[in-house]
Amino acid sequence: MRKPILAGNWKMFKTVTQAQSFVEHLQELNEVPAEVEAVICAPFTSLLALHLALKDSPIRLAAQNVHQAEEGAFTGEVSALMLKDVGCSYVIIGHSERRQYFGETDESVNQKVQAALAHGLLPIICVGEDLDQRNQGITKQLVESQVRAALAGVKPDDVSRLVIAYEPIWAIGTGQTATAQDANEVCAHIRQVVGDLCGAEQAKRVRIQYGGSVKPENIEELMAQPDIDGALVGGASLNPGSFASLLRGA
Ligand code: G3P
Repeated sequence: MRKPILAGNWKMFKTVTQAQSFVEHLQELNEVPAEVEAVICAPFTSLLALHLALKDSPIRLAAQNVHQAEEGAFTGEVSALMLKDVGCSYVIIGHSERRQYFGETDESVNQKVQAALAHGLLPIICVGEDLDQRNQGITKQLVESQVRAALAGVKPDDVSRLVIAYEPIWAIGTGQTATAQDANEVCAHIRQVVGDLCGAEQAKRVRIQYGGSVKPENIEELMAQPDIDGALVGGASLNPGSFASLLRGA
């Protein structure tokens, strides 16, 4: 049985004070259902403050990026050990915004996945097609090659613990969502690919999220799909009330 995982990706939003006030409001709402794993993916600057604020809470913390090296002369970068040290359980790797604006490739994604796992951080690996690729009918092919590249050399047991987020780029921040059936079809294909790479048991255990304009109004339909185990949410995760509704819906 896979526990649903709802992750709010704050992207480059919220100061430390705003992050703390989000958690205070969320805790007042007292709505983190035990059946759902809740994750906040915050900017580096807020991670420590959130770690302290969430000390007695089941909410897990994630970073939005990590560098692949152990340590070294990489100005401006943050290592997996540092993220673990500051209380992160997860890290988003290969978000389409990182691939598009910061030159991340399938190869660097794979290196980051390995670095995260080596330090006990669970990757949330993002994959997804752009509109042009969707119109060409190569969505599954593209997503499959991203998944295979990201997981190259990763031990099957590690694969079963990590999370894969299917985020069609055309659906991110646009208000356009893939239909629940379309999203499920791609997630089911991802599960098949994992099965092919690591075996049926691992494929059954790996959690696959959908991301792209998820909101309280559409989360239930998405979550009702058999191969969708959660959501990676941007805009609608920034407000504590809306995040609490998403958790209820998940
Ligand atoms: O990682 C989450 C994401 O890219 C989706 O963003 O704003 O469409 O929910 P949004």
